[in-house]
Amino acid sequence: MGWWRIIKECVISQYIGAYLNILNAQRQKKNMKLFFADLLSSNGLCEVKGGHDTFFPGSSLLAALRNEGPNHFDKLYFCDLKKENRDILKTRLENLDNILPNKLNYEIYNADSNLAIDDILIDMRKESGGFHNALILADNQGFDIQFYTLQKIQNTHKYTDFIINLPIIPLERQMGSLKKNPSCINCSPDDISLCDNAWTRFIGMPPCLIKKNQIAENYINNLKKIGKEHIEHVDVKGGRSAGIFHYLMLIAVRDTKSGAAWMTLLNRLRERFTNITGDKIKELFNTFFGNQKTLI
Ligand SMILES: C[S@@+](CC[C@H](N)C(=O)[O-])C[C@H]1O[C@@H](n2cnc3c(N)ncnc32)[C@H](O)[C@@H]1O
Repeated sequence: MGWWRIIKECVISQYIGAYLNILNAQRQKKNMKLFFADLLSSNGLCEVKGGHDTFFPGSSLLAALRNEGPNHFDKLYFCDLKKENRDILKTRLENLDNILPNKLNYEIYNADSNLAIDDILIDMRKESGGFHNALILADNQGFDIQFYTLQKIQNTHKYTDFIINLPIIPLERQMGSLKKNPSCINCSPDDISLCDNAWTRFIGMPPCLIKKNQIAENYINNLKKIGKEHIEHVDVKGGRSAGIFHYLMLIAVRDTKSGAAWMTLLNRLRERFTNITGDKIKELFNTFFGNQKTLI
């Protein structure tokens, strides 16, 4: 896995921290529960290679580790298609549970998250016993979490924040080949049934309605239309030069009367990561551990 993942995990970790800090203050006043759903959870650690092969906590462990202190989630929901990932994550969570002061309350789902989401939402209602807020992470590697799934979450419960990883370069590439496809050429905006493919289900719109350089813009507008009015982004870049690898981490929240105070954190994160690529992080690490004598 590329070193760019460290940038992504930093953003996730910082946002989880800010989210819990702010909502924990309201938790007791409003008798409110806080939930975290990692819809593409993997196994809890991410391994980066090159120079020193190193393991970092992935999103699921980053959220679970918050059980160390008072600001933690009341329940964590994980889901991954791969049995191996689920089994490893289960062992890691059990080990963590033995050392953390607060007992972990979690469930690992064995299904496509686009289907498991129904059960997750039902369980959240059952567990909340009243009012709850949820942070939903869709750390897409490919076109994994469909737009319809996000819409369903939003329609079921508006008090959710989304963190979504938008894989810009794979989306642009795939769009190019889809647009040459006869079913796309013959598609009409009034009947998009010919465009029923993974790309369309992911973006929530067929490629024929979108210009190539406006994929992110359209996706963001669609999120706004379903009620996530406030959206910030942080660029995550891989290689040394622009265009080699590019993900967009979107943080989408609904507008509140007081505004989303913690969104200002994202401006700071964006500034911090604008000129940092995954390769730069690898160089810094290898320099720190002595594999590389100078910073390039
Ligand atoms: C990018 S990794 C997630 C990394 C993780 N969030 C982290 O920070 O360590 C994506 C994971 O999603 C799983 N996956 C892909 N599509 C899925 C789906 N539709 N439902 C559930 N899991 C899925 C893959 O098996 C893979 O482990």
